Amino acid sequence: MATSKKVTAKTKVKSKSKAASKKVAKLKAKKSVAKKAVANGLPKASTKPYGQAGKALEGVRILDFSHVQAGPTCTQLLAYMGADVIKVERPGVGDITRGQLRDVKGADSLYFTMLNGNKRSITIDSKHPKGKEILDRLIKHCDVLVENFAPGTLDRMGLTWEHIHKTNPRMIVASVKGFGPGPYEDCKVYENVAQCAGGAASTTGFRDGPPLVTGAQIGDSGTGLHLAFGIVSALYQRIRTGRGQRVLCAMQDGVLNLARVKLRDQQRLAHGPLTEYSQYGEGIPFGQAVPRAGNDSGGGQPGWILKCKGWESDPDAYIYFITQAPVWGAICDLIGKPEWKTDPDYATPPARLPRLRHIFDTIEQWTMTKTKFEVMDICNAVDIPVGPILSMKEIAEEPSLRKTGTVVEVDRGNPR
Ligand code: COA
Repeated sequence: MATSKKVTAKTKVKSKSKAASKKVAKLKAKKSVAKKAVANGLPKASTKPYGQAGKALEGVRILDFSHVQAGPTCTQLLAYMGADVIKVERPGVGDITRGQLRDVKGADSLYFTMLNGNKRSITIDSKHPKGKEILDRLIKHCDVLVENFAPGTLDRMGLTWEHIHKTNPRMIVASVKGFGPGPYEDCKVYENVAQCAGGAASTTGFRDGPPLVTGAQIGDSGTGLHLAFGIVSALYQRIRTGRGQRVLCAMQDGVLNLARVKLRDQQRLAHGPLTEYSQYGEGIPFGQAVPRAGNDSGGGQPGWILKCKGWESDPDAYIYFITQAPVWGAICDLIGKPEWKTDPDYATPPARLPRLRHIFDTIEQWTMTKTKFEVMDICNAVDIPVGPILSMKEIAEEPSLRKTGTVVEVDRGNPR
């Protein structure tokens, strides 16, 4: 017993020391990984709980010359990410949106506060010698200058790229303009001009109607988003190069980027008709350019907006219905057409293409017997992708969007 005990003890010691050497080896390995990470320029992984290690852009200072919507969207996003945004406004005038579309007398408009609520603000006359001096000091202390003046305005203020770069070689100068270099580079541009010039309007609306602009601010807010991505990339690159650069987003380019599937279709058109457009099924020949496609889906799964119960009095009692191929059988069962599952005219996606109008009319007979929310529940239970047409009132009052913080209520401040 005693011997065996000893042996056990020895074995234990041995295995302990084995374990210890294994630990050392592990530690060594960890150290070398950590060393490698440091050599990579990355700090050691933070042990602080997520959300308590500071915001992503903390320490970044933005000199914000932006106004109206496109530029302010960008700097608002940067501020949400932790950047310190100093918004410079013209003395006595301010950002024009402060007074536009006012709903409370004497208070800054919602248009202004929804885009600028998280920034600091200062008025400086950029054309006055004292103002220029203050601006030069700010340029030295900031990381990014953001502006969306009309073309040439910043230069006329004396704030050329050369001047800024000489004053602070690390500064990133980010601009929104209506158009990039070319025949329209000197033009002033607003949202709907960009939607028209970027290809969104010519491809939106019904074939037999005029071009349409969309309520989504893809020209202004969309370009602001693009610019924010360009700025963050330039800041990241500056870590390696130590120097700033110019970032330019043209609103025409921003809209075109968001309408890129239509540019895809323009190229496809050279090789034959666009078979997923309902005009194909209706036997209407295609012209030289991508036509307006009504509510046709922009992807490979056909879809359309269908009436739901109450459509006669409620302008938003509609649902977007997608006849996704993998759930075709479930759709047929729901709408009372189980025979379509095997009928060669309906069983496969190519067979359905020339019959889309008839198929959606038939589905609509079913959706009209249900509210859009009932259709949503029934279809999602069997994985059929559908989207209720939600009014702004419904969205503003939707509890789940409040819960996630997508829609928040904030104090608008005191009327002046
Ligand atoms: N101190 C002194 N002058 C100032 C100033 C300040 N702090 N801030 C602005 N100004 C002056 C400018 O110098 C300019 O004067 P100038 O033309 O004599 O040089 C003047 O204010 C107006 O600026 P501008 O940008 O031309 O504004 P606008 O109201 O005439 O045009 C836009 C508005 C939006 C059409 C135009 O700025 C534009 O095309 N911007 C680029 C595209 C864009 O962002 N459009 C979307 C907006 S949501």
